Amino acid sequence: MTTFSTLPQPPTRPGNGHLQDWALRPLPLIEDGARRARAAGSDLFRLRLGIPSVVGFSPAWNKRLLSDLDTFRSAGGFSAVVPYLAGGVILTDAPMHRRRRQTINPGFGKKHLETLRGRTQAALPPIPDGEFDALAWADGAVLQLLNAAYFGGEFDSRLLHSFLAPLRQPFPVPALPRPLLFVRVDAELRRLATRRLMAGGDDLLAVLAPIPGGLEEARVSLAAAHDTTTHALAYAVWHLATHPQWHAPAHHPAVLKETLRLHPPGWMGSRRLSREVDWNGVQLPRGTLALYAPYLSARDPHLWDASEQFRPERWENKPPAWAYLPFGGGERLCLGMHLAQMLILDVLAALPPLRAVRGDDSPVPGITLGPKGPLVVRRM
Ligand code: HEM
Repeated sequence: MTTFSTLPQPPTRPGNGHLQDWALRPLPLIEDGARRARAAGSDLFRLRLGIPSVVGFSPAWNKRLLSDLDTFRSAGGFSAVVPYLAGGVILTDAPMHRRRRQTINPGFGKKHLETLRGRTQAALPPIPDGEFDALAWADGAVLQLLNAAYFGGEFDSRLLHSFLAPLRQPFPVPALPRPLLFVRVDAELRRLATRRLMAGGDDLLAVLAPIPGGLEEARVSLAAAHDTTTHALAYAVWHLATHPQWHAPAHHPAVLKETLRLHPPGWMGSRRLSREVDWNGVQLPRGTLALYAPYLSARDPHLWDASEQFRPERWENKPPAWAYLPFGGGERLCLGMHLAQMLILDVLAALPPLRAVRGDDSPVPGITLGPKGPLVVRRM
C-alpha cells in the first residue's frame, strides 16, 4: 500500500533532496515526477523541498485543491514569501476570501472593462517597422496598457517599470524585501487615489480607491498582472508569426487558448494543508505543501491529443474538465482573466501580418513561465 513516504518521486540529490533541481530545472523535474506517478498508477508525486510537498496533476486533484478552500490554504503557499504577492486577496483565505472577491470583482468584470477599452486601445504602442523582439515589445506594451487600465496612464512610468522589473528575475531576487521601493509605489498610489476620491474617475484605481485595503489590492494585482500578461502576449505573437495562417481576429481566441495551454504563465500553484487529507488512501499530513500544475495538466498525453503540438483547431471542442487551468479555477479564479484576455486579443487584432525571424521560445519557469527569448519577428 502506498503511503506518503512511498509516493513516487524523481531521483533526489544527496544532501538537498530536490531543492537544487527545483531551483535550476523545475520543468524536467516535475515532468519526471509526473511520468513516474503515471507509471505507478498515481496522480500524485512527492518532492523533497525541506517541507512535506506533493504535486498533483489529475483533474480530480485540481478540482479538490481549487474547490476546498478550507483545507487548501493560500497563506502558507509560495506567494507568502514573495513580497509583491504577499497581500490583498492573494493571501486572504476562506471564509473571508469570498467576500473580498465580491468587493473587488466588479472592477475587473466584463462590463466595467468595456468602459476602459477605448483607453487601453489608444495606449497601445506602435508596432515597429523592421525586426523587433516580441518579448521586449510585449513587456513595454503591457506596462503601458496596465497603466492605462489602472491609472488612466497617470502612474509615473519609470517607477512602474522599476517596481515590476525584479519580478522577472530568477529567485531569490523577487523574494527580497524592497521597503523603499514599496513606500514610493504606495505614495504614488495614494496620490492618484486621492485625485479620484475627490474628482471621480472610471479607471481601475477609481474603483479600488474607496474600498478599505483597495490600494494594496491595486499593488498586488498589478504584480500578478504584468509578467503573466507579457509572457502570454509574447508567446501568442510568436505563435502567430510561426503559424501565420492563424493570424485573423476570428482565430485569435483559439490561438490565445492554445498559447496558454502550452505555455501557462501560472505554471504551478501552491497551497498548504490545514488538516490531514486522505487522497486515494494516502494520508497527506497537515502542513503539507500541496501543488497543482497547470503546465502538467495541460500537456498530459492521456487527456489531450498530440498534447505537445500547437493546434488551435482543438478548441472547436470543449477541453477536458479541470485539465485546462491557465487562470486557475474555482473561487480563486484569476481576478484579471477578462482584463488579460481583452488586452491580448486587442493587441493581436492590431498586429500586421508577421513572420518569425529567429528566437528561443524555450519556457523558463520563474514566478511565471515565460519564453527565454529573444523572439525576433518582422512585418511580412
Ligand atoms: C495571461 C495573464 C494571466 C494569467 C495566465 C494569470 C494566471 C493566474 C492564475 C493561474 C491564478 C490562480 C493562482 C492560484 O490558484 O494559486 C491567478 C490568480 C490571480 N490573478 Fe491572474 N493571471 C493573469 C493575469 C492577471 C491580471 C491581468 C491580473 C490583474 C488583476 C491578475 C490578478 C490575479 C489575482 C489578484 C489573483 C488571485 C486571485 C485570488 O486568489 O482570489 N492576473 N492568475
